[in-house]
Amino acid sequence: MLNRRNFLTAAVGVAAAGGLAACAKEDDSSSSSSSEGGSKAITLGFSQVGSESGWRSANTDSVKEAAKEAGYTLKFSDAQQKQENQISAIRSFIAQKVDVIAFSPVVVTGWDAVLKEAKAKKIPVVLTDRSVETSDESLFVTLVGSDFTDEGRRAAKILEKVLEKAGHKGPVKIAQLEGTTGAAPAIERAKGFKEVMDADHKDDWKIVVSQTGDFTRAGGKQVMAAFLQSNPDIDVLFAHNDDMGIGAIQAIEAAGKKPGKDILIVTVDGVKDGFVAMSEGKINAIVECNPLLGPQLMEVVKKVKDGETVERWIKTKESDFMQDQAKEALPTRKY
Ligand code: AHR
Repeated sequence: MLNRRNFLTAAVGVAAAGGLAACAKEDDSSSSSSSEGGSKAITLGFSQVGSESGWRSANTDSVKEAAKEAGYTLKFSDAQQKQENQISAIRSFIAQKVDVIAFSPVVVTGWDAVLKEAKAKKIPVVLTDRSVETSDESLFVTLVGSDFTDEGRRAAKILEKVLEKAGHKGPVKIAQLEGTTGAAPAIERAKGFKEVMDADHKDDWKIVVSQTGDFTRAGGKQVMAAFLQSNPDIDVLFAHNDDMGIGAIQAIEAAGKKPGKDILIVTVDGVKDGFVAMSEGKINAIVECNPLLGPQLMEVVKKVKDGETVERWIKTKESDFMQDQAKEALPTRKY
């Protein structure tokens, strides 16, 4: 995975060649216009994680719109949250001799073999949103996406403010709804949050339950209901995304408690539905994770195709929001 220490730069060359078979849901959106600067039109193969959350839908729309705008031919494949589908899609892109492959890896490990196949055919790979763990850093060119560890730290720091605002005194029992097991945002958000907890709240904060809700609303609801059974005295919920937080709100209300009051809630993402829940007083704070990566991705793809040097990690700019900012911010939210 990428970290602050390996902010390298990478230069790339390009070509193409043949390969294997496909799986998953694929669609082709083509555009007739060619890209600027005299280079021939670009064919981009993009393997998306799935459609598990509002964030993901906004990300998919952003990628599709930006590819159209740039005049690229986009081969889009939805992996439905399965790594084997992503591997098949990448193999299909290799077989189709696309110019560049981009993908948002469902989990961090298990990519070396297929990335080596792409490298052997000289097709550059750009990661978007999520990173991978690999034995060979040359297997991908760059990552366009957020710093998830920092999002976890920011969640813990904003929780301090939430607790202060709520006048909470004494020990804090925290429930954590984790993202998809093995996915970079699940691993890194938990890590960043724990870092701040260990450094500044060793004696007063405790994660009493932590389990995956797979980044979905249904998962959040189901797991939160179980949390409330085993730990009815939870003070705080840290949900790794808005959708799980919204599912959890339903479970909290079904248990006769008030979300945002009886249980303080901090989530990550900042999708519209999250802001609606926050403006209704049901979420106390949101750490933003920006899904609108399409335009940056298209820029990088062109540079990579043209053999230009790009940064090893192109980070997204994000903000944090407290409940009292929700009503004002809601009308201007773009996703
Ligand atoms: O990788 C980004 C995460 O994936 C988002 O926070 C979550 O909503 C999505 O499913």
